[in-house]
This record gives sequence, structure tokens and C-alpha cells, in this order.
Amino acid sequence: MDSTFREIYSEERIDREVRRLAREISADYQGREILVLVILKGAFIFAADLLRKITVPVSVDFLEISSYCGMDSTGKAKMVKDVSHSIEGKDVLIVEDIIDQGLCLSVLLQDLSRRNPASLKVCTLIDNRKRRSHPVEPDYAGIRDICGFLVGYGLDMDQRYRELPALYEIVPSTGDT
Ligand code: IMP
Ligand code: MG
Repeated sequence: MDSTFREIYSEERIDREVRRLAREISADYQGREILVLVILKGAFIFAADLLRKITVPVSVDFLEISSYCGMDSTGKAKMVKDVSHSIEGKDVLIVEDIIDQGLCLSVLLQDLSRRNPASLKVCTLIDNRKRRSHPVEPDYAGIRDICGFLVGYGLDMDQRYRELPALYEIVPSTGDT
């Protein structure tokens, strides 16, 4: 399929938001250690940049949730990979790439809160509140309310385009010439 890419957030603008989030998180968690749970695969680039700017101690674990097929949500979220270690008693910070309908995050929050973490917060690079159908709110959000389907900086369409350094809206061509 031919597609058109429109850059909507440059590397510099992303970097500015990541630095701001790292400052806020570092201030809020003073004197504590954060267990960062990176949601694969989309959040791996954001998390790598964010973690290197956070100034309190962190440990990292990974989990994977799947709900999308192409540009459409399947309406079901399932955990494909669970964390490797217990989160009980830990100050857990979930790091997500994008919250859209909120399905993935609501499923995840229900599951993780049953495991008795000391605290459970959410940081997302992109927060699309207009598309929300499940009542979840991130504690930290970089970019708010960008419409369209996004790729780059970790975000994919059918596993492609994660390596693009900026954020692009992907517009499928209609096939017209
Ligand atoms: P939600 O359950 O609708 O909030 O979707 C959450 C997950 O779907 C995100 O963590 C992404 O992995 C994926 N996703 C949602 N919107 C986009 C998008 O615009 N581009 C790429 N992935 C997306
Ligand atoms: Mg994701």
C-alpha cells in the first residue's frame, strides 16, 4: 500500500517533551526508586530516552500487550509477555507510547493493581483524549490530542516504521492518480 507521511512532531520537539517529563518524574519520585515497566514494543525508544534523563534510581522490566491489527484496534487486549519479576511493594511507573481508546491501559491497570504495588502511575508520550472509550488517565503525558494514525519514534503500522526518528501521521493513499 502506498502511503503519505506528514511529520507532525520533530525530533527536537519530542526531545523537549521527554526532558520535561523526566524533570517532572524525577521531582515527584525524590528519595524513591522507580520500577519502570516499558510496554513493548511501541514504548521502547521513548523509554530509552526518558530513562536516561530521569535522575532518581530506576530498574526496568518489560511487558507486551497486543490489540492492534494494521490501523484498526481489534477491540481486545491481551498480554503477550508478562514482567519477569514481582512488582509487589514497588513504585511502578508504566511507560506507554500512546493512549488512544484506553483499552490496553485499562486492562493492564486492572491486572497490575491486583499485584499490590506500593504505587502505580502511568507516563505516556502521546495522550489522545478525544479517542478515549475507557476511563483511564495518564499521570504524565508528553503530547496531547494529535489525531490520525501515527508512526515513528517506536510507533508502528504492522511492525513497520518504528525506526523513524520523528512522529509522522500516516495517510493511506486512496489509489487515485
Ligand atoms: P488503545 O488501547 O486504543 O489505547 O491503544 C493502545 C495501543 O495501541 C498503543 O500502546 C499502541 O501500541 C497502539 N496504537 C494506538 N494508536 C496508535 C497509532 O496511532 N499508531 C501506532 N500505534 C497505535
Ligand atoms: Mg503499545
